[in-house]
Amino acid sequence: MKQEFDGNILSPLPIVLLGTLIDERPNYCVIGYISPFDFGNHVFFSLYKKRYTRVGIQENKTFSVNVPSEDLIDEVNICGSKSGRDTDKSILFETFYGELETAPMIRECPLNMECRVTDILDYDPNEGIVGKVIKSYANADLVKDDIVDMRRAGLFAWTIAGDFSFYRLGEQITSESDAED
Ligand SMILES: Cc1cc2nc3c(=O)[nH]c(=O)nc-3n(C[C@H](O)[C@H](O)[C@H](O)COP(=O)(O)O)c2cc1C
Repeated sequence: MKQEFDGNILSPLPIVLLGTLIDERPNYCVIGYISPFDFGNHVFFSLYKKRYTRVGIQENKTFSVNVPSEDLIDEVNICGSKSGRDTDKSILFETFYGELETAPMIRECPLNMECRVTDILDYDPNEGIVGKVIKSYANADLVKDDIVDMRRAGLFAWTIAGDFSFYRLGEQITSESDAED
């Protein structure tokens, strides 16, 4: 037996803090509908047009993707519920910049990427934002021989299908040597 659902139930999804620069101030917003594609050279995310984040996307055509660890849950909850229009979310984190000078990144997040907007698709009332990944950064203490130790990164994922919760990553069940081309 299968129970039917209307719409998308793809789970789990990554949860990220999406950074933009608006009037010279960093703003961070939670995005759950995001995915890499093009073998990871680009990312795609869904942005409701009323988000303050959209102002920064339009202003600079750049953004950052910051993957939070579990110890940042309180900050994630704020960034996913308060708008930068009335709350200064830049004070929650230490910001750093990479090659793009208008894509603020969060030092406390173990994984960061800076991206340049290449396409904006109209899916009213949302937009699909496509960005080219310009450069990625990982906390150096997690990296050995160019491999990020994901077990120590404290990452978590978001589920949908009515559940809408965060889950920490579990045990590793495969390794790269198991994979075939
Ligand atoms: C788990 C979770 C996932 C979310 N995913 C999205 C999303 O994919 N797209 C979106 O536009 N808003 C999403 N939001 C809502 C925004 O994060 C929220 O409205 C935020 O306050 C907007 O901030 P801003 O107005 O400063 O841009 C999500 C919120 C949560 C808690």
